[in-house]
Amino acid sequence: MNTLSKLQSYMTGRKALLPGALILSAISTIIGMLPYIFIWLIVKELFNSEANYSQALINTYAWWAVGTAVAGVIIYFLALTLSHLAAFRVETNMRRQAMQKIVRMPLGFFDRNTSGSIRKIIDDNASITHMFLAHQLPDLAGSILMPLTALVLIFVFDWRLGLASLVPIIISMVVMSFMMGGKGKKFMKDYMTSLEDMNTEAVEYVRGIPVVKVFQQTVFSFKNFHNSITKYKNMVINYTKLWENPMSINTVIINGFAFFLVPTAILLIGYSGNYVPTLINLLFYVIISPVFAQSIMKSMYMNQALGQAKEAVNRMESLTDVEPLPMSINPKNIIACDIWFKNVSFSYPGVEQKAIDNISFNIPEGKTVALVGASGSGKTTIARLVPRFWDTDTGQVCIGGIDVKDIDHKELMNNISFVFQNTKLFKTSLLENIKYGNPDASAEAVERAIDLAQCREIIDKLPNGLNTKIGVEGTYLSGGEQQRIALARAILKDAPIVVLDEATAFTDPENEHLIQKALGMLTKGKTVLLIAHRLTSVMDADIILVIDKSKIAEQGSHSELLNKQGIYSKMWNEYQQSIKWTIGKEAQNV
Ligand SMILES: Nc1ncnc2c1ncn2[C@@H]1O[C@H](COP(=O)(O)OP(=O)(O)OP(=O)(O)O)[C@@H](O)[C@H]1O
Ligand SMILES: [Mg+2]
Repeated sequence: MNTLSKLQSYMTGRKALLPGALILSAISTIIGMLPYIFIWLIVKELFNSEANYSQALINTYAWWAVGTAVAGVIIYFLALTLSHLAAFRVETNMRRQAMQKIVRMPLGFFDRNTSGSIRKIIDDNASITHMFLAHQLPDLAGSILMPLTALVLIFVFDWRLGLASLVPIIISMVVMSFMMGGKGKKFMKDYMTSLEDMNTEAVEYVRGIPVVKVFQQTVFSFKNFHNSITKYKNMVINYTKLWENPMSINTVIINGFAFFLVPTAILLIGYSGNYVPTLINLLFYVIISPVFAQSIMKSMYMNQALGQAKEAVNRMESLTDVEPLPMSINPKNIIACDIWFKNVSFSYPGVEQKAIDNISFNIPEGKTVALVGASGSGKTTIARLVPRFWDTDTGQVCIGGIDVKDIDHKELMNNISFVFQNTKLFKTSLLENIKYGNPDASAEAVERAIDLAQCREIIDKLPNGLNTKIGVEGTYLSGGEQQRIALARAILKDAPIVVLDEATAFTDPENEHLIQKALGMLTKGKTVLLIAHRLTSVMDADIILVIDKSKIAEQGSHSELLNKQGIYSKMWNEYQQSIKWTIGKEAQNV
């Protein structure tokens, strides 16, 4: 029942819909029993009065049987209407609340949960809940009321025959509750986990097909997907086997009600000597027993559905279980833009190893600090702590002397432009993509940002210029072009602090030159944290930090670091080699 009240909490307004559906379906259950009683009354009349039965009475019973049957169906239909209305509401609200929570998640949340998996979890679980509420909930009332009505009827007619007809039902209930207990509950959880795994792997597989084709791998990439299917298959088979015996016993017992009823009736007849009333009562139980059996089956499926709905709600809620970043009770505004990292350590949630370890440095206002270092050394992680993708474990990140945790969140976002390593453009017009940086910008400001970001030629070659939609009708931009658009967006935002995670992929020299120029425009006069993958872009930085295995290994200006003959000078030599190599290769091609 806990699940029901949880679901009810997703109903905003119209709280009466769910209870209404339950009450109507309860009424329809009771009315639905009446036709059986009228049919039995007809049989009784035929038996009792032998040849001279009353046709009029039989007609009346018949009409009542038809009437109550029709009424039962109509009321059940109404119950379904209400339950559907409730289901749509709950589903919409579940989706809405999940989205509202996701918006408040720390930015780092989106690293760990891909947009595909978030959508899948919300979609799947919201629709399971919908199915449960709309289609199965109305039966809940029936599955509780039916056995109760049965108990009443048992004492109305012949309690001895009633008990006999109850025996199989009681046995079946014991078997069922045993099966639904511990193992059954655990299964439901495992079942949904492995179903989710299988779906995720299928998405990953489809997404990876281009790579698979290029590398001519078929079996290996398929392995994860295949394993998830095998796991799912084994789990279902094991569970089915677990049910094999209890289910067979249950089906036999429930359908074998005559096995208990008939001997009891024979005994009763032998005992009283008068077979007519016993036979008539026996007939009643023969008519009604299958109805009870069916209701028990229903309640069995109900239990399962309830478990599934509970699991769905839990999964939905645990998706957004991550605590939103704590907000300062007394948020401050930014007064200066120098950035301080003071003994900062951080490890990703669930990862023991520190991604950055006791890092301290300072970016004076208006200066540029560049981070270089091997892949995985922690550069992106450092950059992400400035706009509070995550909070530090120990130490402080301060802007203008104020801990970023104490800065008003909106103020923080307004003052930082963050250009990601892998820029994503939205599937909308180029203009909207650029204006994302500053929705109120004037047309002139947009044009200026486009020029500064060296995007003019990109726009000129598109069919509808700035109004061209990206990612549809064959208008795609190259990686380098997308980066320049992202830079235009950042230039338009004109925030005093710029955090730049340079793209790893090398572009052609022409594009590289343009990006370099655009970067220069974006960072002019700003406080900049630059992660560079091309050493040419760090040469002019005021300070270069060499990050190695989560720590600062060296720091200084370009020439200072070259003189040190350490990691940086080695990197620089390798970089020079690679340039020579490229030039050499180009010369060969001429
Ligand atoms: N969202 C995450 N969850 C868990 N671990 C992560 C996450 N992001 C990065 N890491 C780990 O933290 C370490 C530092 O990663 P980071 O992205 O900061 O490296 P990087 O220096 O930017 O590398 P690159 O030059 O390839 O961009 C790596 O070991 C990486 O595996
Ligand atoms: Mg990185």
